[in-house]
Amino acid sequence: MADSGPDTRADVGAPAAATEEGAAVSVAPLAIETREFNLWYGTFQALFDVDLKIKSGIITSMIGPSGCGKSTFLRSCNRINERLGYVRTTGTIDIMGHDVLADDVELLQVRKQIGMVFQRPNPLPLSIRDNVLFGHRIHHAGEKVSKSDEGEIVEKALRDVLLWDEVKDDLGGPATGLPLEAQQKLCIARLLPVKPAILLMDEPCSALDPKGTEAVEELIWELRGDYTILIVTHNMAQARRASDECVFMLLGKVIEHGLTEDVFLSPEDPQTSDYIEGRYG
Ligand SMILES: Nc1ncnc2c1ncn2[C@@H]1O[C@H](COP(=O)(O)OP(=O)(O)O)[C@@H](O)[C@H]1O
Ligand SMILES: [Mg+2]
Repeated sequence: MADSGPDTRADVGAPAAATEEGAAVSVAPLAIETREFNLWYGTFQALFDVDLKIKSGIITSMIGPSGCGKSTFLRSCNRINERLGYVRTTGTIDIMGHDVLADDVELLQVRKQIGMVFQRPNPLPLSIRDNVLFGHRIHHAGEKVSKSDEGEIVEKALRDVLLWDEVKDDLGGPATGLPLEAQQKLCIARLLPVKPAILLMDEPCSALDPKGTEAVEELIWELRGDYTILIVTHNMAQARRASDECVFMLLGKVIEHGLTEDVFLSPEDPQTSDYIEGRYG
């Protein structure tokens, strides 16, 4: 699958390398970079001065108690919060080096770069095949795509999410008839043909049983390296197993962000260890 994802891997943080001629070679931008990002729902402030640098090509987990702003942060990155008329923000969010809050940004382009997976699988009431092709068709409206090209797109996306063998004989069947675990895999599959740089996942396993959780986690690992993944989870074991870096949030603030191993084994802030050790929920 390595050939399908966008080339977003980068030694982020490394200084721009100099060529022999001395010209700087640019490195790929951070996937997500926020500066002093604040968000209010009406008069209630849900995010406070969030400064985050999410690196390209790795898996970052986001943990923290319910209500600390994890979903709000994810929804801010692809600008779905703003549908609510009473949301106000200050600060900036750059996605792949571009300010997504700028007035002249095309939302369709933002959403092309960022795919989002929600807590409950939300396949469209269409066939399995049409679900996989849905986003691709929107982003290639007006272009001629042959049936065989579509067939390839569908097979590749379903193989990438480890679902092909299970559904290949029933691609015309309704997506909503699949077991929940397969539905969630399908919701990931339908993002892939659009070739997003970033996948935001908001507790993608929370509606699944332990077996389904394991299967979807395995899939998330499979996507590692081909996509930048930011995944919110309440499952400490999942965060620990499945992520390279970890962000801990509390009451709308980022308390700690570092290598997952460090955050879990030697957190810098006592509030992080309190949370990880289950002292509050
Ligand atoms: N649409 C909304 N309108 C008003 N307040 C909201 C809305 N969504 C979330 N909140 C509030 O913002 C805070 C952060 O919520 P959320 O981002 O959902 O947290 P988390 O995902 O960490 O559980 C909570 O206090 C929540 O009640
Ligand atoms: Mg949430």
